[in-house]
Amino acid sequence: MSYLDKKYGLSGKTAIITGGGGTLCSAIAEGFVCAGANVILWDIRPEAMKEKAEVIAKACGDKSKIAYVEVNLMEEDSIAKALKESVKKFGSVEIFINGAGGNRGKGPLVDVKAEDYEFVLKLNLLAGCVLPAKHIAKYWIDNKIKGNLINVASMAGFNPLSGVWAYSAAKAGVMNQTMAYAKELAPYGIRVNAIAPGFFIADQNRKLLLNDDGSPTQRGKDVLERTPMGGFGLPEQLTGSTIFLASDAADFVTGVTLPIDGGYLCNNI
Ligand SMILES: NC(=O)c1ccc[n+]([C@@H]2O[C@H](COP(=O)([O-])OP(=O)(O)OC[C@H]3O[C@@H](n4cnc5c(N)ncnc54)[C@H](O)[C@@H]3O)[C@@H](O)[C@H]2O)c1
Repeated sequence: MSYLDKKYGLSGKTAIITGGGGTLCSAIAEGFVCAGANVILWDIRPEAMKEKAEVIAKACGDKSKIAYVEVNLMEEDSIAKALKESVKKFGSVEIFINGAGGNRGKGPLVDVKAEDYEFVLKLNLLAGCVLPAKHIAKYWIDNKIKGNLINVASMAGFNPLSGVWAYSAAKAGVMNQTMAYAKELAPYGIRVNAIAPGFFIADQNRKLLLNDDGSPTQRGKDVLERTPMGGFGLPEQLTGSTIFLASDAADFVTGVTLPIDGGYLCNNI
């Protein structure tokens, strides 16, 4: 095995990736399979996962390394069942990516609807981070596995985005929990980190950032103006940094949130 394969490769490891039927997490899944990992997509949409799994198998030339399990991350029973089923597939799980999430609506503070706020908070913080972390951490501790948890935060976690109140609060919470879990789980050899993507065109934000003709909306233009490296991110641009965090090359890295944002955060006047 080459030096780079040994340090950065994921051979012999199995990863669960939630939100695996979606745009960004299926791209990360493709990178993981091509880097040697077995990957189990988790999502509430089985058809989307089936489609993504076929694309990944084709891109990496190996359909034995990709599987999927339907789950509703809002429900703990469903998470427990999905974890049991997933462990059976490849024998064990060493990496877990908390990628499910999304937003609902955008508007002024005075129009916030408690029901929508609660849904988005629950989706991104409880379902997208806390509950799966609880179940995978217990599995790792019970089985003495030095696991590796990666949460998916957002620019909105560093600096709230206007009009998306619950999403910003939830992603700030994800960053907070990343540090807290890292401290709590370090004695078991479990690492916990996060990635914070900048602006990537996906189903959940396409209408917010692009007009029907593909040109940027005013909000899209604002983002582009604040992104020193220019352009929106491409899903495959998340892959290398996420593989790094998951690999043995990062075996002394825990509790960090890594921005992958084309410099959006370091913009100034
Ligand atoms: N697209 C971006 O620019 C961007 C930027 C920063 C962070 N993010 C984060 O990246 C992650 C992936 O986002 P994306 O843009 O690929 O969105 P996406 O909508 O394509 O993917 C999200 C996936 O989560 C799944 N999901 C929703 N509710 C679920 C539930 N209850 N149980 C199981 N699965 C559920 C959806 O079915 C979907 O496939 C999210 O956490 C998002 O907040 C995205």
